[in-house]
Amino acid sequence: MKTLHIDLGPRSYDIQIAPGLLDRVGEEIRKVCPKAKRIAIVTDTNVEPLYGARVEDSLEHAGFDTGLFTGPAGEGSKCATHLAALWEAMMHFGLTRTDAVVALGGGVVGDLAGFAAATILRGVDFIQIPTTLLAQVDSSVGGKVAIDLVAGKNLAGCFWQPRAVLMDPDTLNTLDDKTFADGMAEVIKYGCIADKDFFDFLRSHPTRGEIMANIEHVLYTCCDIKRSVVEKDELDTGNRMLLNFGHTLGHAYELAGNYEKWTHGQAVSAGMCAAIQLGFGLGIMEEDEGVQALMDLLEAFGLPTHIDCPWETMVKAVGLDKKNQGEDITMIFLWKMGEALPVRMKKDAVLENLEAVYGQ
Ligand code: GLY
Repeated sequence: MKTLHIDLGPRSYDIQIAPGLLDRVGEEIRKVCPKAKRIAIVTDTNVEPLYGARVEDSLEHAGFDTGLFTGPAGEGSKCATHLAALWEAMMHFGLTRTDAVVALGGGVVGDLAGFAAATILRGVDFIQIPTTLLAQVDSSVGGKVAIDLVAGKNLAGCFWQPRAVLMDPDTLNTLDDKTFADGMAEVIKYGCIADKDFFDFLRSHPTRGEIMANIEHVLYTCCDIKRSVVEKDELDTGNRMLLNFGHTLGHAYELAGNYEKWTHGQAVSAGMCAAIQLGFGLGIMEEDEGVQALMDLLEAFGLPTHIDCPWETMVKAVGLDKKNQGEDITMIFLWKMGEALPVRMKKDAVLENLEAVYGQ
């Protein structure tokens, strides 16, 4: 078992990583929500049959009344219609301001449940129980919660830190290989942006079996890197954007595939490869010390190193990027493996240099 403390003053919390933790979530949640009577468990149709009853049993054993709110699996449920239905169902359940919301599932469930918790009754306690690798290493940590709008992904949201993040690595055993690889893209990203030793560790453990044999170390290392970034920039006004390495171009690929053809991890994987080549072309990474190693590692997990993208989609994505400020955009590059660098650039300059990478 490993524990990591996220120090955000009054919004501080612990991340716990332990096999079998799913059966003890009740007692852990009792510690952080001593006054709560009711717990609304938000989950989806994939996760509920696997883990819903275990989590309910553990919570009821700890004296909570539970309500299970199961939505359809998939990004489509992260919308205003489902959020409104969830608010109404929570009121019907009798949730009060001293009660709590639990997110049991992957990133979609965490974002939706977190935004519901942040807004219902002007905000109630929230606990993350992430069950996918992507959610365990990224979306459950740091307090970003949101729903999608027609205008784009995650456009209505806020920061709402959980009271606890409870990770049971055993839940990863039920993921298919594609969903596991989706999370591996973000795992590899942490090595690229902040920890060369961890990148080398991943290179020497390039299979799902080897990662799972060391999963507590992997989860702890990724969450510790995210911890150090979030503690310095909780509200994402500065260095938290380092976590977006590979994401600007990744968003272009997601857009090009209409958010269906490519998973987020696949898009980030190809986005990291394009960003590293772009940085190399710009002379930011002086020696080509990481491109091939990164590509080999991503490929070992079945992740793409290149995605075809229509030029107009690329232009649109660079223009729409949330970090875009007027004519400028902040791109995240590696200046060497394990060290990322934000570079403010003119959008036109990004596109010109991308043309070189893409041979347009
Ligand atoms: N996933 C990026 C962040 O939490 O800032």
